Amino acid sequence: MHLGRTTLSKFLIQQLEGIEGSRDLGALLVDVAAAVKTISSMAAKGALGGLLGKAGTENVQGEQQVKLDVASNDVILKSCDWGGLVAGMASEELDDPYPIPAEYPRGRFLLVFDPLDGSSNADVNVSVGTIFSILRHDRKEAPKVEDFLQKGIEQVAAGYAIYGPSTMLVVTVGKGTHGFTLDREVGNFILTHPNLRIPEDTSEFAINTSNARFWEVPVHRYVTECQDGKSGERGRDFNMRWIASMVAEVHRILVRGGVFMYPRDTRDPEKPGRLRLMYEASPISFLVEQAGGAASTGRQRLMELLPHQLHQRVPVILGSKNEVERIVRYHWEHDKGIDRRYSSPLFNERSLFRPSAT
Ligand code: F6P
Repeated sequence: MHLGRTTLSKFLIQQLEGIEGSRDLGALLVDVAAAVKTISSMAAKGALGGLLGKAGTENVQGEQQVKLDVASNDVILKSCDWGGLVAGMASEELDDPYPIPAEYPRGRFLLVFDPLDGSSNADVNVSVGTIFSILRHDRKEAPKVEDFLQKGIEQVAAGYAIYGPSTMLVVTVGKGTHGFTLDREVGNFILTHPNLRIPEDTSEFAINTSNARFWEVPVHRYVTECQDGKSGERGRDFNMRWIASMVAEVHRILVRGGVFMYPRDTRDPEKPGRLRLMYEASPISFLVEQAGGAASTGRQRLMELLPHQLHQRVPVILGSKNEVERIVRYHWEHDKGIDRRYSSPLFNERSLFRPSAT
């Protein structure tokens, strides 16, 4: 027993001071944390919990849902719909926003979440997570879809849970990014990673290189330079990681730096990226920026993007500030046509003539 440890509740009382609606916001974060504990316990049971494998249903984006996706979604809805704290909720797994049942009071916040990020990893016992974003809704009327479509800079809080060897909750209310570890015996989240800071420089990048043929030129340029290592443009070796679970990649970056990319690609003009702006990119960008990192589409700060659809997808490039700024510069140079070496007509997104440092 470690007396004097800072629990999530104690931390929130201190952190939320001066923030409008702080009591309700604190209570909502505690409700989210309660849901995370339940999901953590379901995920940790693995095959014994009966929740591995496909659910046999598809979400609005036409993706196969796994049983743990569906169960996690229900856990969050049921943890947060009754307490008079939220006016409505939107989930990656639901076509439309979830209205608060008539028997419960409506609150002043909107909760937007991805209940199980990286869910393809659940069956193979690799880390998955939950991502959430909290927005204001100061009107009495029940929220419409348009009320959810707020820029990332409007978020009052954001966070993720990572279900790995330990379960952690990483949260920001705009006063830094802070990590809590679940003490399973006691059932409390304990502040273990206060004020996470992403190093400005890094030699580690994360991208799914199987999509290379669909990337834009600036991303090819960046990755090629990393792969060229010491003998190339960058003059040093880089390491690569790809877990295929955004929370796990972002967690690594928050702890030791790095850059994560799921960039724009040419696969489907309707989908200029894979990740969802409201459920993934916005909340994660808030956490990353609060930890001193940067987050961009390559051409625009993610936190300033105004969503035009609930399930909108966007390109995502985030992590160590100096690397993200470099990649943004590569996009700018490409768009201006001032990077002669990489803007040759022989080199385009589908060309065989990929740039190389030699
Ligand atoms: O849907 C989101 C997600 O699972 C992210 O967590 C992850 O970064 C990405 O998709 C993995 O994509 P892919 O299967 O293309 O590697």
